[in-house]
Amino acid sequence: MYHAPVLLQESLEALHIHPDGVYVDATFGGGGHAAGILQQLGDNGHLYGFDQDEDALENAGRPPFDSHQGFHFIPSNFRYLKRQMRVSGVRPGSVDGILADLGVSSHQLDTPERGFSYRFDALLDMRMNKKDGQTAADILNAFTPDELQQVFGRYGEVRNARTLANACVQFRDKSRFRTTGDLVSLCEPLVIGERWRYLSQVFQALRIAVNDEMGALLAFLEGATEMLKSGGRLVVITYHSLEDRMVKNWIKTGNPDGIMKQDFYGNIERPFEVITKKPIEPTAAEINENPRARSAKLRIGEKK
Ligand SMILES: C[S@@+](CC[C@H](N)C(=O)[O-])C[C@H]1O[C@@H](n2cnc3c(N)ncnc32)[C@H](O)[C@@H]1O
Repeated sequence: MYHAPVLLQESLEALHIHPDGVYVDATFGGGGHAAGILQQLGDNGHLYGFDQDEDALENAGRPPFDSHQGFHFIPSNFRYLKRQMRVSGVRPGSVDGILADLGVSSHQLDTPERGFSYRFDALLDMRMNKKDGQTAADILNAFTPDELQQVFGRYGEVRNARTLANACVQFRDKSRFRTTGDLVSLCEPLVIGERWRYLSQVFQALRIAVNDEMGALLAFLEGATEMLKSGGRLVVITYHSLEDRMVKNWIKTGNPDGIMKQDFYGNIERPFEVITKKPIEPTAAEINENPRARSAKLRIGEKK
């Protein structure tokens, strides 16, 4: 299976789907969430599915997507949401609901040659868009020790980020990073705590840097806020604390730092009504069935 959708029923309920509405699935992937949305849309409803990974395109050409005239696949990074929607003829302030299920799909993680997983030895790539940007190997071979420390510390919360960054630079004195195996061997003597957790943190940190995931998320939140109509729903599923903090702050205050802003008259300016004071998390049964759901957090904002 390409990907088992996480918090599926909860996401669909959160979107408050009207049969004739306009919806966006910003992270189409295997189309699990998108199929659920499409099932509730009538002939006049529209669903725009975004994914920057060309592998997702094949899923978009299969049932039920191939037979609904209101389904449109947009092979693009969701950071360009507003621009792409405008090209598709959708005006700002006219979208009923936008869903983003962040991170990588099981298909990406389980395909060895994509280089996302420490479980396989393959080229250190990690780009979701295989045609654009620098690979994880490029970053490891080019970043300064300070930049590498930032990546490991900030994006992976790796406790010995400085030591790991220095070890990467020492490795570069003799060789160049090429494969996941190069990175795993370098990490082995530096592991703190459980091996799988340490390697997951290091690989997650690099993946976030390679795909500029925090930059893309911020641009997405800005675009989504402009595209939604009053009463429209923003529904975001995150998988690590940095993402969750940005989404929580955005929904609460309209900025990524969570700073309340006031207008000239002292009224607090907030683009969203917070629907989830606490995030919705998967049940024990869902985690048991799909362990990859374990860190998921779903937050909902309703556009004012
Ligand atoms: C967790 S999966 C989504 C799975 C999907 N909800 C499903 O039910 O199959 C995340 C997907 O979003 C895509 N993605 C992640 N960041 C993206 C971005 N900035 N722009 C477009 N697509 C992105 C990935 O390529 C991946 O296919």
